Amino acid sequence: MQRPLVIVSPPIPVAGVVAQRVARRGAVEVVDLMRRGGSRPGAEGPGAIRERFLCELRGEGRVILAPTLVLRRRETRLAALDRGVVVALDFPVASLATLETRGSEAELEDARAAESLVYEEAHACLDAERLDEDALTAAVVETWGRDGVAVAAGGRSYVVEVGTGLLEPRIPEVVGRAPVVCVVTDSTVEGLHGHRVLGPIGALGRPAATYVMEPGERSKTLDSVVGVWGRAAEAGLDRGSVVLGFGGGVVTDTAGFAAATWMRGVRWVALPTTLLAMVDASVGGKTGVDLREAKNAVGAFWQPSAVVCDMDTLRTEPARGFSSALAEVIKTALIGDPDLLDLVEGSVGRIACREPEVLAEIVHRSVRVKARIVGLDEREGGLRAVLNLGHTIGHALETLGQYEALTHGEAVSLGLVAALRIGESRGATSSDLSARVIALLGRVGLPTDLSRWDLEAAARLVGHDKKRAGDRIRFVLARAPGEVGVEEIPLAELQGFVGRLG
Ligand SMILES: NC(=O)c1ccc[n+]([C@@H]2O[C@H](COP(=O)([O-])OP(=O)(O)OC[C@H]3O[C@@H](n4cnc5c(N)ncnc54)[C@H](O)[C@@H]3O)[C@@H](O)[C@H]2O)c1
Ligand SMILES: [Zn+2]
Repeated sequence: MQRPLVIVSPPIPVAGVVAQRVARRGAVEVVDLMRRGGSRPGAEGPGAIRERFLCELRGEGRVILAPTLVLRRRETRLAALDRGVVVALDFPVASLATLETRGSEAELEDARAAESLVYEEAHACLDAERLDEDALTAAVVETWGRDGVAVAAGGRSYVVEVGTGLLEPRIPEVVGRAPVVCVVTDSTVEGLHGHRVLGPIGALGRPAATYVMEPGERSKTLDSVVGVWGRAAEAGLDRGSVVLGFGGGVVTDTAGFAAATWMRGVRWVALPTTLLAMVDASVGGKTGVDLREAKNAVGAFWQPSAVVCDMDTLRTEPARGFSSALAEVIKTALIGDPDLLDLVEGSVGRIACREPEVLAEIVHRSVRVKARIVGLDEREGGLRAVLNLGHTIGHALETLGQYEALTHGEAVSLGLVAALRIGESRGATSSDLSARVIALLGRVGLPTDLSRWDLEAAARLVGHDKKRAGDRIRFVLARAPGEVGVEEIPLAELQGFVGRLG
């Protein structure tokens, strides 16, 4: 299904022309909300236009032309970025003229700030003052065709692109004008896929440095970061330069942190090559490394400027890591996308064969759910807690296995089984849903048998969970596909449940 295209703009004639041209090329209709607002008698107020806009967004491929003010509210904007592809036409003089001049100075300032977020967070923002109609039309068609996932993070927003054969053509674009490029990868990824990134960089003729890590979690250390800094220093990486993290989550976490700290922060791009790095590490801006004492102990929030997920790289990902990532996919489906659950259920064979089309849809949908949730909870206020579905008991089992017996994803699979059964016992989860999800976890090769684990010991470890508040713990329960709830459960009660799960 093609998502609708949303063109937002101040009222300038070129917006209507571009919308018509793009629609004609795609043989779809234009829904023009631009003319409906304003101060004419009988015109609709902002609330009515917003309702109409949200309604139009639910449809399939179409071009929606809307005034910028429709997207000033964060919830509306996130809905548009999730369900559609948003292109903003920037024409500062016209924007200023349409910003409300009534109201206090403070209100005007708020309106301006909200307006600039519309431009920053859109899939693309095009300069309608400088570009002519042809150039604008071509750029809008291109953005719509790419169908990227927008991650809204104010001035540090970016787009996650998902598809096949993407790496080679996107390298010149993500490098941009950077005078120096630093590629961080690991030796496995370099051997299998290095040419697809290093070749195009070589062709750019720009000075480039490469830092190759040993594969695996043991390399996610400050030593590796120091290694990247060393290469950056040798190559003369300056503030305008770029770091590319090309590999699994270990590489992208390390590369992102090296970029966050080099010269107090340079631009970086993630080129994830594992399913986990695509669906989980590509949204949220978390970068960092482990200490011997604790995983992910040192880090920074530092958003990439772009993420390119090329399904071709997944063909070679080892099976265990790949199926582990499916635990996060199934978790994500339970949290926010019932169609994703249906998709995984109906494509187990195709997923196992690593068919790029089905993988691309899975990654696209997973990233959209995470982007929506993180976008609504920028400051980690609490909503993000839903992403912990399956993680409370999962973390306990991961710790029990000393991070060796179970991968994180396998632990999450068992944690999901536990959360579903606890949900059943509290009347939040139907036994049908539990049975359905547990069967699916098993079909994709994940563990579901809790009886092999020392649940008494796991129950004690749950008491150390970060989400604990006094003698209660915030626990995420599945209510229906795409619908979760957070309940504060007395710790003793939860520990009792866990102890009896086997
Ligand atoms: N930043 C975040 O929000 C976030 C989210 C989830 C996980 N993580 C982090 O991600 C890490 C785990 O990521 P991972 O599972 O990708 O581990 P990883 O990077 O260690 O990759 C797993 C293994 O697969 C190999 N590999 C990678 N891509 C390959 C390919 N295309 N073909 C063949 N082999 C390939 C690697 O060399 C490695 O041996 C953890 O450190 C975790 O903390 C971060
Ligand atoms: Zn996880």
